Amino acid sequence: MPELSRRNVLFGAFGLAGLATVSACGGTTAVPATAESVRRAEALRRKAGQRVVTAKLTPRPTTVDLGGPVVNTWAYGDSVPGPLLRARAGDLLRVQVDNQLPASTSVHWHGIALRNDMDGVPGMTQAPIGAGKPFTYEFTVPDPGTYFYHPHSGLQIDRGLYGALLVDEVADPGGYDVEWTVVLDDWVDGTGRTPEQVLKGLTAAAGGGAAGSGSDMGGMDMGSGMGEAMSSQLLGGAGDIAYPHYLANGRVPAAPVTLTAKPGQRARLRLVNAGSDTAFRVALGGHRLTITHSDGFPVAPVTTDALLVGMGERYDVLVTVGDGVFPLVALAEGKQGNALALVRSAAGTPPEPSARPAELGGKVILSTDLTAAAAVRLPVKDVDRSHDLLLRGSMAPYRWTINGRTFPDADPLPVEAGQRVRLRFQNMSMMFHPMHVHGHTFALVHGGARKDTVIVRPMQTVEVDLDADNPGQWATHCHNIYHAETGMMTTLSYQS
Ligand code: C2O
Ligand code: CU
Repeated sequence: MPELSRRNVLFGAFGLAGLATVSACGGTTAVPATAESVRRAEALRRKAGQRVVTAKLTPRPTTVDLGGPVVNTWAYGDSVPGPLLRARAGDLLRVQVDNQLPASTSVHWHGIALRNDMDGVPGMTQAPIGAGKPFTYEFTVPDPGTYFYHPHSGLQIDRGLYGALLVDEVADPGGYDVEWTVVLDDWVDGTGRTPEQVLKGLTAAAGGGAAGSGSDMGGMDMGSGMGEAMSSQLLGGAGDIAYPHYLANGRVPAAPVTLTAKPGQRARLRLVNAGSDTAFRVALGGHRLTITHSDGFPVAPVTTDALLVGMGERYDVLVTVGDGVFPLVALAEGKQGNALALVRSAAGTPPEPSARPAELGGKVILSTDLTAAAAVRLPVKDVDRSHDLLLRGSMAPYRWTINGRTFPDADPLPVEAGQRVRLRFQNMSMMFHPMHVHGHTFALVHGGARKDTVIVRPMQTVEVDLDADNPGQWATHCHNIYHAETGMMTTLSYQS
């Protein structure tokens, strides 16, 4: 994701206070990350006796065994995913970052409604963490749920820099015997190309240039060299990159992780899609899945055969474990390949790495099919401010836009504290976009799920509402990292 160079220059000249003060509409000023109102919003979250949870992250170049393929990459420590971070709602999380990368970095806490100056967006909420430099993030985690963390610097997330962040309820009602966290990813780094080289290939490809088709012409194929038409019934244009590997908890399907339980136990499975260009269709062979949470927030439970997880989305599902060994398959939607984990409750022969359980072809749930649990519905209120976000793009040149512009030259979306804001994501392209808003959990209109990332299918409009209750400057972008990096990003910009 872009570090806006123009504003980075401002950093040097004026420091953080010089940032984002550009007026979005006459007479008002953007509320910077350093504003007093940002400090006040955080002070309200801090309660007496607040627990402090500390952690350390060391982004650095390293060598990782993906379960066969050994790759040179960048990771937090030596593992992919990075360390699992865990706190309880209301805790103060203090994370020391020791940047041992040969590049500047940042850490974004995806989905957390935190203080704006800890959101980890260089050029918008902080200065980049320089190579060899430390930075300490410190913020209250207000809401329970399944989240993750990753850099907000260029294409770094498409290396091994990501990890799960779990926030427990103060009084977890339970209802499950075991818990599994599965982080999905599409992998290219260290297989002959870096993500930066992949993007170079995409921008250099003089393909057919069908606007926003995500077409086989423009797609990068790093495997066979044969063009792969990356499209799907569910998503239309399903991606721009055919990855050589798809991972579950850092492992290729030939050497999967094993999730264990006893027959008949209830498991809570937390799914995170940390991929950069791949949506995953997830199913567990021989089982039905009951979706309980989406992006950390509870939904009216729905039982399904499979579900579709876009980049940046998280789901919690409950499953009653059968007797045996079962494939948890994450199919790279519209691509060739899958990630795999094993669910084991008894002895038995493991399924094939390329297992395709019948459930994948059954009922598939998308977030637009879900409704919010009663406790997390947004109260009914008139909309004070609406913004349209027209999503367009092209493969040649490779360029993705919101309202016809590319970040940082995008038009910000001005809002004022206290407003009910409606965002209308209108996809005018033939490719899906998982749209993500920082610092807030919006609600799909008409009682739909609470989310921070939502898949918008080709030519579809998705409307979401949020309460502007967290002042600052908030990145709003497509979580296809190649789209974000080439422009599909803007700012939800509090004004005062
Ligand atoms: Cu995972 Cu800007 O976000
Ligand atoms: Cu996109």
